Amino acid sequence: MTIADFAGGPAADIAAATPRARTPSLRRYAMTVPTFFTVEYAINPWMDTSTPVDATLAVRQWEQLLSTYRTLGHTVEMVEPVAGLPDMVYAANGGLVVDGTAIVARFAYPQRAGEAAAYAEWMSSRGFEPHHTHHVNEGQGDLLVVGSTILAGYGFRTDRRAHAEVAELTGLPVVSLELVDPRFYHLDTALAVLDDTTIAYYPPAFSDDARAQLQRLFPDAVEVGSADAYVLGLNVVSDGKHVVLPANATGFAAQIAELGFEPIGVDLSELFKGGGSVKCCTLEVYS
Ligand code: ARG
Repeated sequence: MTIADFAGGPAADIAAATPRARTPSLRRYAMTVPTFFTVEYAINPWMDTSTPVDATLAVRQWEQLLSTYRTLGHTVEMVEPVAGLPDMVYAANGGLVVDGTAIVARFAYPQRAGEAAAYAEWMSSRGFEPHHTHHVNEGQGDLLVVGSTILAGYGFRTDRRAHAEVAELTGLPVVSLELVDPRFYHLDTALAVLDDTTIAYYPPAFSDDARAQLQRLFPDAVEVGSADAYVLGLNVVSDGKHVVLPANATGFAAQIAELGFEPIGVDLSELFKGGGSVKCCTLEVYS
């Protein structure tokens, strides 16, 4: 299937967003401890190099996220952090691993370019052959798996031309969605995958065309307001029932609780200063 002829949708005829019992499934994640985290350059509007960062607190908060996943029964693998690569903690950007196919990131900014080798090495160490794209792709920052479809952002980081490469490498249909607000520079800052058929998103982050696509594919999607979007409330990780999200996204937490999900808030205030939160810190290995 190609991008062009993908017409149906995972939720095309399912009224997903209704209150019901939700079923979790055990997941496999990779994370990178923020030992070397700083904000020493600004490549997104959340980053301010004059704001002090407490690296010890960043590690402590990150450990809270790690233990949340482990308490839920998920497997979390560690990627070795590299000195001089402060954004490596945002492991989601390292690549995409789905059904045994591993695609390593090609970063948009030179400050992050060195992370690709580190994530490629991690993939190899786990028995995945890292595939490269010719065009920029920032991994699961912009490539979100929903059921057996990939929603792919473009406009700020991932190059739209990489979407076709991802479709080719994975054999999965890819839906291209244009992002228009620099605060929501990665798809995972503007759209959350809650389960195989349920998403939540912040409409103003998307072009008219992308919004129309989302409405067609996910007519029952949860629409999130500005207060939650501006604390990166959509930057979540869900196992189908438990939704780990930024603790201050209280409106969104209430919305999903009503649908039968169980929100679990974590405080990642230090990593927020780099423009990321829960999902950014988590690379999911989809099998
Ligand atoms: N400072 C990082 C950057 O701007 C933050 C990345 C956040 N990651 C994410 N998956 N949205 O590239």
